[in-house]
Amino acid sequence: MLRPLSRKQKQALLWWRPGSGVEHCRLFLADGAIRSGKTVSMILSFLLWSQSCFSGRDFIVAGVTAGALKRNVLSPLFGMLEAYGVPWEYRRAEGRVVIGTNTYHLFGADKDNAQDKLQGMTAAGAYADEAALFPRSFIDQMIGRCSVEGSKIFMNCNPNGAYHFIKTDFIDRAAEIGLYRLHFTMDDNLTLSPGIRESYARSFTGVFYRQYILGEWVSAEGAVYPMWDDEANTYEDEDPFRYRGCRRFAAVDYGTANPCVFLDVRDDGTTFWIAKEYYWDSAAQRRQKTDAEYAEDLERFLDGDRNTVVIIDPSAASLKAELRNRGFRLRDAKNDVREGIAAAAVRIAERSVRVHRKNCPCFLREIHGYLWDEKARQRGEEKPLKEHDHAMDALRYLVLTLNSRFRGGKQSPE
Ligand SMILES: Nc1ncnc2c1ncn2[C@@H]1O[C@H](COP(=O)(O)OP(=O)(O)O)[C@@H](O)[C@H]1O
Ligand SMILES: [Mg+2]
Repeated sequence: MLRPLSRKQKQALLWWRPGSGVEHCRLFLADGAIRSGKTVSMILSFLLWSQSCFSGRDFIVAGVTAGALKRNVLSPLFGMLEAYGVPWEYRRAEGRVVIGTNTYHLFGADKDNAQDKLQGMTAAGAYADEAALFPRSFIDQMIGRCSVEGSKIFMNCNPNGAYHFIKTDFIDRAAEIGLYRLHFTMDDNLTLSPGIRESYARSFTGVFYRQYILGEWVSAEGAVYPMWDDEANTYEDEDPFRYRGCRRFAAVDYGTANPCVFLDVRDDGTTFWIAKEYYWDSAAQRRQKTDAEYAEDLERFLDGDRNTVVIIDPSAASLKAELRNRGFRLRDAKNDVREGIAAAAVRIAERSVRVHRKNCPCFLREIHGYLWDEKARQRGEEKPLKEHDHAMDALRYLVLTLNSRFRGGKQSPE
């Protein structure tokens, strides 16, 4: 199942061996483009290292979520063990895998207080997949738990912002903290066909292209959607045949104290036509609406059409219940912010999101004022300013939930 490794992958595989020149390092980080072969080579490296250097020890194996860990790490790990004829025991309920005399404890780093579960552990090593998406507290605790003589920490990730702690406190201080760093590009994965490479490249634009495809640690600054074009991303005519054969969706961002937005979307298979918007700003109107009122408004907004799939903020439990009772067809929105913005940016760049110029004034006002949060950026976090972002949230829900081209799991692309 493993095909010949690239030179970079071989370095990742054998860096810890005596004579490599970097075997004294305690930390190892492989960062770079998505699909560049980081995870595969690191799993094998971690396995060889832990099995040949230790017996009867405990190790930490962590992913962004339990699901991502299973998909990205355990599946290839079990595949390798199978291929090499090495027996293993997966104790699912206990969250561990036993290989030989060593025990590998599995963690999802996304849970609140995930690092608490590490407390009290004495580990001989750790493996962190997609470490840039972990809370810092988890990484610090994980490193702190590796107190056995000769312990090492293996981490990999896709690049993030220029002020992310992995960049500033690990990569930039590599020599000082004893970190061996390998930077991967898609050339380091010999199994990627040009066609697949192309399709990954087409899945990103702007800052996400630079991070995920070029593998650069660069920050998102200024406008979230700098590729937005007032002409190319809008339309105005009243062509009565425009929506013929289109599927219809409503995208809903719920708010009571905050504005509540519905978008009326027609999908012709290529382009999302955002035909009109509903925007209730309770603060400006000085009146909050009940769920029943919102449901009535949505019914009117959709001209009574109950076949329209309503893509809705999954946390809007009360409105969801109200809509379901009234016979609406609901679909929970995927609401990962980073992925949603990345997906919307591609659609905007290729002009396959078009917004009705007259019917959607609030959407258009929001998209021009939708900015990355500068203060958060300096703390190393990348997120948009949380103001006037309601139509923007509805857009993210729409695009990510219906995105068939690229599926990245909860975290960023694998
Ligand atoms: N040497 C190899 N042999 C077989 N498959 C490989 C090899 N290197 C990479 N791949 C495949 O390429 C894809 C991306 O590799 P992965 O390690 O997951 O990349 P990354 O972690 O950098 O996103 C995976 O499907 C993986 O199985
Ligand atoms: Mg990976």
